[in-house]
Amino acid sequence: MTDTDASSSVVDFNPSRLGTKEHWDEVYQREIGTFQEIADEGEVWFGEDVLEKMVEWAIENAPPAPIAPFVLDIGTGNGVTLFGLADAGYPPDHLCGVDYSDRSVELARAIAEHREVPEITFKQCDILFNVPTPLEVMDENGWDLILDKGTFDAVSLGQYEQLEEPASRLYPVKVGALLKEGGLLLITSCNFTEQEIRNLFETPASGLHFHSRVKHRSFSFGGQTGTVVSTTAFFKTTASSSS
Ligand SMILES: C[S@@+](CC[C@H](N)C(=O)[O-])C[C@H]1O[C@@H](n2cnc3c(N)ncnc32)[C@H](O)[C@@H]1O
Repeated sequence: MTDTDASSSVVDFNPSRLGTKEHWDEVYQREIGTFQEIADEGEVWFGEDVLEKMVEWAIENAPPAPIAPFVLDIGTGNGVTLFGLADAGYPPDHLCGVDYSDRSVELARAIAEHREVPEITFKQCDILFNVPTPLEVMDENGWDLILDKGTFDAVSLGQYEQLEEPASRLYPVKVGALLKEGGLLLITSCNFTEQEIRNLFETPASGLHFHSRVKHRSFSFGGQTGTVVSTTAFFKTTASSSS
């Protein structure tokens, strides 16, 4: 199922349907139907506990006051992560979610209306090929905080014939370019360990450096202890002294 890239000690996944836009369009089309029927907002990817911990990390490291950060959620899905931040006091007009599935954008916008936070921006954008347009209230220096919950996992499962390098190598560079100097990336994955994520994201081309980790509940099986998901934070600097 997987190949190991010996030069950088990371694992590449073979393409899967989970890495296609068609798959996610179908998922969110279904969720739009359920939301319209019974106001169910859909799946909380990785569960409430992981979402809560990501929000707690954000409050500690990029707090909503006194100067609210501009936050970009890549592969926002039903927008659940941004709704978590809005509930925690982040101003909705500083929050933006992008997704390559226009069904996701439709669902997230409908939920935002229903939750009475229509000021959160949701836009269609394929992060590998387009640059998300900044919010009107932002300066041109980039985002203060970028969130990824399960998106890099999906991107790594995609097949992109038009790319010269694997999407898992391009994605960190794209994300790094969107952050302002000193900005933060918080990424949760179930396909990569923290070390694999670090091998892929901490490169000179991305400008990203390890910042911290979020601890999740661990499980034991066959004498081994591990966690199901990893959440890793990076800060962006192009200054050579920290590389
Ligand atoms: C596992 S889901 C996670 C959704 C959401 N972050 C959450 O926590 O519920 C992965 C998301 O990434 C989106 N996605 C995958 N590849 C993308 C790309 N190249 N650009 C933007 N979004 C992408 C999918 O449409 C899907 O919404």
